[in-house]
Amino acid sequence: MGERPRVWVSQPLFTDVLARIDAHAEVVRTPEVAAHGSADIAAHLAGVDGALVTLNERIDAGVLGAARRLRVVANLGVGYNNLDLDALTRAGVMATNTPDVLTETTADFGFALLMATARRITEGERWLRAGEWRRWSFETLLGQDLHGTTLGILGMGRIGQGIARRARGFGMRVLYHNRSRLPEATERECAARFVDRDALFAEADHLVLVLPYTPQTRHIVDAAALARMKPTATLVNIARGGIVDELALAGALAGGRLAAAGLDVFEDEPRVRPELMALRNVVLTPHIGSASGATRRAMVALAVDNLLAGLGAGPHAGRPPNLLNPAVAGAAR
Ligand code: DGY
Repeated sequence: MGERPRVWVSQPLFTDVLARIDAHAEVVRTPEVAAHGSADIAAHLAGVDGALVTLNERIDAGVLGAARRLRVVANLGVGYNNLDLDALTRAGVMATNTPDVLTETTADFGFALLMATARRITEGERWLRAGEWRRWSFETLLGQDLHGTTLGILGMGRIGQGIARRARGFGMRVLYHNRSRLPEATERECAARFVDRDALFAEADHLVLVLPYTPQTRHIVDAAALARMKPTATLVNIARGGIVDELALAGALAGGRLAAAGLDVFEDEPRVRPELMALRNVVLTPHIGSASGATRRAMVALAVDNLLAGLGAGPHAGRPPNLLNPAVAGAAR
């Protein structure tokens, strides 16, 4: 029997789910949540055949240089902007992500953040806890309705469609914009109408961002886009922080050009700009869109399947089910 493959797991993950790898590989675990710098990532990758990584770890040409035996990088998340796919493909390393298992959980969260933002729920709680609630009054903490309003969804993938289906139950009219228009049957099922991007910004009472983060979508929500929105509108971002120009957003919120924002993702996580922290009309959550216990476990289980498949040991040996770069030599074997 040949040498067992070696695997690096970059962050602490559910022990019982990870235990499945032990039967097939030697596992280098990370006992505490760690901020791995590039040199540290490169050193770990240099000695392993596979890696299980999170959005915290940037995998690019710089860390792959010495990773001669690396065959698969299994990313824990549907978003994979932390992976340089071209560099991985050039290095002959398979890359995978974890779609589908988090769709409904993340759509639930998107809707929860939208409601908290529009109806000022966390702001109200902060106010109450600060002892500000001295008597009930008719005009306290007035928010925006959801029912009967127009929801805009930018990015109509699986999570965007999940949010549209929820909006239907709330009696909202749904508009969306996406790189490509959805098939008519899907539009009907989501009760959503395709519009161009400018119209989406202009017509939405609530706008939810669910699009992938790429060089093309960086700061797609900039000062000009924000200026197209209604001053009474709310903006919710559950995608990636870099999609929004945060300084422009803070300016619009502070200047009354936008009613409120709900942000689960930030340009420089875990740092949140003081300009946003200082605002009352923004709900800030620490990137927890997919964070239900069941879904996070399902994500790890799927990433483990992807990893084992890439190492030739899983049920799909040789071709991970969620392969992002099929061009990698040998991946289709
Ligand atoms: C995702 O799946 O992309 C989430 O942001 C967690 O990584």
